[in-house]
Amino acid sequence: MEFRIEGMSSKVRKAVFPAAGLGTRFLPATKAQPKEMLPLVDKPLIQYGVEEAIHSGMNNIIIVTGRGKSAIEDHFDVSFELEHMLETRGKRDTLAQVRSISDMIDVSYVRQKEALGLGHAVLRVKELVGPEPFSVVLSDDVIDAEIPCLQQLLEIHSFYGASVVALMEVDGPEISSYGVVNADPIAHPGLGDHSLYRIHNLVEKPKQGEAPSNLAIIGRYILTPEIFESIEAIAPGSGGEIQLTDSLKHLLRSRPIYGLKFEGKRYDAGDKLGFLKATVEFALKRHDLGAPFRQYLKSLSL
Ligand code: G1P
Repeated sequence: MEFRIEGMSSKVRKAVFPAAGLGTRFLPATKAQPKEMLPLVDKPLIQYGVEEAIHSGMNNIIIVTGRGKSAIEDHFDVSFELEHMLETRGKRDTLAQVRSISDMIDVSYVRQKEALGLGHAVLRVKELVGPEPFSVVLSDDVIDAEIPCLQQLLEIHSFYGASVVALMEVDGPEISSYGVVNADPIAHPGLGDHSLYRIHNLVEKPKQGEAPSNLAIIGRYILTPEIFESIEAIAPGSGGEIQLTDSLKHLLRSRPIYGLKFEGKRYDAGDKLGFLKATVEFALKRHDLGAPFRQYLKSLSL
């Protein structure tokens, strides 16, 4: 039976961005530069995620960084030299863009000294987050959506007062690259029949043929604070890492977890082909670049 837990959910203000990974899928570009700073058209990947969080009402950004990630901190900091240069050259529009991002948010940084897994990264923010629900955003999953994906998850979270993960159907052998859920669809006002799921089990990166379904977890989560105890309780899993998926499985013993097949298009920008697709489609949508870029693409004899 589904029921609404009144008063269980407080506002989600904090968005956590794990960004301490080594970016091996994008070498050599990521040898001396964090993958989160790779530009999609003209904005670094992580900024798309941060803007999604802001548009979903979360201004408190917590970035979990590792070694060699200082470019991320500089990006969200005020750059007096750059602002001064833009001001003296009269570049008002660019100045406004550069300022808007550092003005809108309150960013904190936590260090993850070793890349021991996504669960391990999330556990690093336990003190900063405290006893309130929070979101986790994996910035190499870029989602283009009319209603930001995080906001779609928030609506479910505030209805049920429970943790919610983003889901997408993935067919074929690629399913083994994801956390995969075993879940039953449930009815929810305003959503289609197979949009919202009650999760019964989760498996991180199942072997081919062992996936419990074709429903993959995509990098957007709203988590209740009990997740921290679950992360502390689990042993290393897939790849010898502390997996967030395994901690969600542990959390299921005491709390319900929901999965939402969100509306929108997701790009795997941590993968070279996915990154190229995102670049082309985002450029085509830009009012300043779309028309000449379309013309250029048409001129290629493909
Ligand atoms: C992580 C999660 C996985 C999830 C995926 C989504 O894996 O561990 O459960 O499905 O993100 O992008 P990663 O891509 O970091 O290996």
